Amino acid sequence: MVIEIKTAEEIQKMRTTCTLAASVLDFIAPHVKAGATTDLLDRLCHEYILDHGAIPAPLNYKGFPRSICTSVNEVVCHGIPGALTLKDGDIINIDITTIVDGYFGDTSEMFCVGEVSKEAERLIDVTRRSMWLGIREVAPGKRVGDIGAVIEEYAHGELGYGVVDQFCGHGIGREFHMDPHIPHVGRRRTGKRFKAGMTFTIEPMINLGTHHCITLSDGWTAVTADNKLSAQTEHTILVTDAGFEVLTMRDSAWRPEDLSA
Ligand code: MF3
Ligand code: CO
Ligand code: CO
Repeated sequence: MVIEIKTAEEIQKMRTTCTLAASVLDFIAPHVKAGATTDLLDRLCHEYILDHGAIPAPLNYKGFPRSICTSVNEVVCHGIPGALTLKDGDIINIDITTIVDGYFGDTSEMFCVGEVSKEAERLIDVTRRSMWLGIREVAPGKRVGDIGAVIEEYAHGELGYGVVDQFCGHGIGREFHMDPHIPHVGRRRTGKRFKAGMTFTIEPMINLGTHHCITLSDGWTAVTADNKLSAQTEHTILVTDAGFEVLTMRDSAWRPEDLSA
């Protein structure tokens, strides 16, 4: 269970694939609107990724039948694109994983279809802040449990949202999912220690109600057990000597107002 340390060349390849994955989110954003099917979003992303010389990692991954994940409203993660037509008030997570030159880059974002409820807006805001609280824990010597602890203390402890513990962030590189697991709940000063050169994702799933999830009979789609809304955002992170680098950052992405606070 040794956590891989990337060489400078590998880190450059991670930057390339992660930047491309992030660019897919900017590309697809204007297409996320009422009347669009999730199949259309999948097809557009699939073509964009191929046009940029990359491979969409989800396609045929353990039998997953599409090139992206689209998780709408009560879907927690791993939603399969299909005939579902987006309507005003929906919230949707689009999760993109690309393979460029053998290296995986993984990132996801929330989109609102037209006007959404205040509680949906708030859930998305809390999810992004949770992810960033986790990101800001990342530095050499800090530990895996520090990430889950800050996310759980904020989203569940302070605000009462459900923090999903059934799906985790993960190491990433020449494989989609590698060691270490990055839970979004946990205790400080526990778990493996970070070292410069490690790459992994942070991708909290935050629920309006219960943290419990149910997987549908398609074997993939995870929904909240109470059918209340769920949100998720994801970045791929590099541990640097100074702390962290968000490899999937893009100009348009949400970020906290004051990174130093
Ligand atoms: N991109 C997801 C993650 O963040 C994994 C999707 S697996 C798939 O780990 F098969 F559903 F695509
Ligand atoms: Co991931
Ligand atoms: Co992902």
